[in-house]
Amino acid sequence: MKTEMERHIVWLDCDTGTDDAQAILCANALPELEIVAISAVAGNVELEKTYRNALRLNRLMGTDFPVYQGAEKPWLQPQHTGYRYHGENGLGGVELPLPENVPETTKKAWDALYEKAKELGGALEIIATGPLTNIGTALMKYPDLPRFIRRIVLMGGSATGGNRTPAAEYNIFADPHAADAVFRSGIPLVMCGLDVTMQAIFTEEDLIRIGSKGTPAARLFHDALLTPLRAQEGGEGVKLHDAVAVLYAARPELFWGQMAGVAVETRGTVTMGKTVTDLWSDKKFPFKNAFVVLGLDNEAFVRTVQELIWSY
Ligand code: RIB
Ligand code: CA
Repeated sequence: MKTEMERHIVWLDCDTGTDDAQAILCANALPELEIVAISAVAGNVELEKTYRNALRLNRLMGTDFPVYQGAEKPWLQPQHTGYRYHGENGLGGVELPLPENVPETTKKAWDALYEKAKELGGALEIIATGPLTNIGTALMKYPDLPRFIRRIVLMGGSATGGNRTPAAEYNIFADPHAADAVFRSGIPLVMCGLDVTMQAIFTEEDLIRIGSKGTPAARLFHDALLTPLRAQEGGEGVKLHDAVAVLYAARPELFWGQMAGVAVETRGTVTMGKTVTDLWSDKKFPFKNAFVVLGLDNEAFVRTVQELIWSY
């Protein structure tokens, strides 16, 4: 019996970088997801670039999603960019044209997010693939926001080690104070951390095969991801971190994990930005605030991403 496909109304909050770009392409191609807007946050590269990169994706996809600018920098931490993995332009050096006419919008991401969330009466889901500064700012400015957000699926954190420091994953490390506000918000959370995203591996052969389709989306997939592929130690392939959050939102059957208590370190020196989970601790937190994704069927994941990129 064909089950009715569940549709999700989603807001993408990204620091469009090389893997965020693939996540946006996948989100737009997934029939289970209806994107209502994209917001840009400073992260991998500066806000101006993450904003314009999201606009560039609109042109490549032939879409005109509203794109809002959010935070230019983290709440308290200095901005840590990721030029090594994303290039100075955030797309691995790939040049994409901007849309012909960019609608002038001065409305900030958090204000637009709150308006849309209230308009949708609680149906809106957020897929966050960058530092959580915009979402945290929305929570601070609009304390009743949690009433209107169905869930947040975020790429970030780790139940084990880090990739920006030995303790912390980049998105949480970049703005641990905003992340702390999100993890304390009471909004249902799905944490797609390094535990699962480090398994979402695309080899150079995968990039060449997917790029061989020759379409603009296929070429972007190959060309943009060569930068992180070449930047990382070890030759096992590039991790498509952000696409994991998008694929989880649409096809959770490809993944597995479990509920846990998760808290963000905001004062440590060695551990700043660490997501402390109680998954394997004797001592548990008195709350379970996030579904922590721990594994995926990577063959199905690669196949699905390929289908989505080739659908353009
Ligand atoms: O740690 C991986 C995350 O950091 C991804 O979102 C990537 O885009 C970078 O922002
Ligand atoms: Ca990102």
